[in-house]
Amino acid sequence: MKIEVLASAIETIECEVLTMFAVERTNGETLSGVTGKANDLTGGWIEGAYASGEFSGKAGEIAVLHRPPGMKAGRLALIGTGKAGSIRKAAATAMRQFKTNATSIVYAFDSADSAAAITEGAVTGSWEQDHHKSANRRENKLERLGFANPDSSVAAAVERSRIIAESQNFSRDMINEPGNILPPRELVRRGREMAEAMGLECEILDQDRMRQLGMGSLLGVAMGSAEPPFLMVIRYKPNVATSQDHLALIGKGVTFDTGGISIKPADGMEKMKNDMAGGGAMLGAMRAIAQLKPGVAVTAFIPTVENMPGSKALRPGDILTSLSGKTIEVLNTDAEGRLILVDAITYAKRQGCTHLVDAATLTGAIGVALGYLHAGVFSNNEAMLGRLMSASKKAGESLWHMPVDDEYREQLKSGYADIANIGGRAGGSCTAAAFIKDWVEDTPWVHLDIAYTAYMDDIKPHSAKGATGFGVRTFVELALAWS
Ligand code: BES
Ligand code: MN
Ligand code: ZN
Repeated sequence: MKIEVLASAIETIECEVLTMFAVERTNGETLSGVTGKANDLTGGWIEGAYASGEFSGKAGEIAVLHRPPGMKAGRLALIGTGKAGSIRKAAATAMRQFKTNATSIVYAFDSADSAAAITEGAVTGSWEQDHHKSANRRENKLERLGFANPDSSVAAAVERSRIIAESQNFSRDMINEPGNILPPRELVRRGREMAEAMGLECEILDQDRMRQLGMGSLLGVAMGSAEPPFLMVIRYKPNVATSQDHLALIGKGVTFDTGGISIKPADGMEKMKNDMAGGGAMLGAMRAIAQLKPGVAVTAFIPTVENMPGSKALRPGDILTSLSGKTIEVLNTDAEGRLILVDAITYAKRQGCTHLVDAATLTGAIGVALGYLHAGVFSNNEAMLGRLMSASKKAGESLWHMPVDDEYREQLKSGYADIANIGGRAGGSCTAAAFIKDWVEDTPWVHLDIAYTAYMDDIKPHSAKGATGFGVRTFVELALAWS
């Protein structure tokens, strides 16, 4: 798909579909800019669409005029942005509507500031995972994607957003793969391939190496599976450092989570193929970071395992010794994400990382608390949380601040080891975060629980079913804004 930026007037743009955004009218807003011009050229088609009630500008609404007079485009399309005006979603909706029936789409818009969101929407909207289908695919016909705006800053914004959104799609491709096609060894193979293509340093710790180091917590989760575990480390170092800090991006990489001996119910278990969404997001973030080159060192750590109930599996009651030396009583083998994360966190700290970010599909409880709209964010450091919040705002990925007071640690007391891996039903996401915090100690840290934002159960006008790639854009913005 070729991407181009055009400064030409809308009537001269040659393409199959020329797309414009239109707001939901609340107090008789008048048309101006590109929609005003298109309305004039078409003899009032847009005003007519509003006046008839056929189009009101609600989010995702689409109206199409074929062979618009006075224009070179084959079709003129209006996309509603709604009252809240999510232009990112509107752009994605248009993409999903037209990618199967047009070879060229151009988005014309007035504000140069919206170039990033429109590009991100268009590129993420083009994502589909149907390579396992032999028929009835949503075939992508698009060859040419254009962005029309006279401002000279638009080209750079489009290029930056293209890289970020393609990296998000790269993550989604991996996250969506089922457990048989993407076990830990395939996750690290794809991660290494990406790192090599992007010129990033890549190191993969295998089971023997992790045994030598003493990563008993991570290795404990892997015991029940025939698939060996890995800890994948990918390093980005800036040519010109603008900061002495060292960011760690740590992502949960459970390629399939059966729950282990504390096995999950059958209903909906297939979704547990997405349980490496945190790790997948970190790989996508590194892919973009390698190309956009922030001034801060960033290292990704992806502990990857399959959680299975094999004959050598971890049992409830087992006691593991983590890399830090702290012992863990495993009261539920389904609380496995935290077990692999804490060894990766200790390792990241020993590698000299000064700031830690982790992302994990960690608890069903976060979905009970926040639903599908926001990911939960937990932190031990106000400044770090602030940085993450502004990155997420820029990225259009919503985070909701959740508590992780020291008091939650009390629910994790164990009669036999230093800590237990579950803390009861009350505040399940908070006690999970408190468990991780016990290893983080005073290092500035944020933890994202993305269990319900990492994938969508249903197809949406703006998105395919499945992996969302949640987090990729936020982590990239965080690194780019770091100084
Ligand atoms: N991977 C799951 C969390 C999850 C649940 C992700 C639903 C997406 C949708 C995690 O490993 C898990 O099983 N968590 C348990 C923790 C419990 C045993 C304390 C949970 O949430 O039930
Ligand atoms: Mn689990
Ligand atoms: Zn899990």
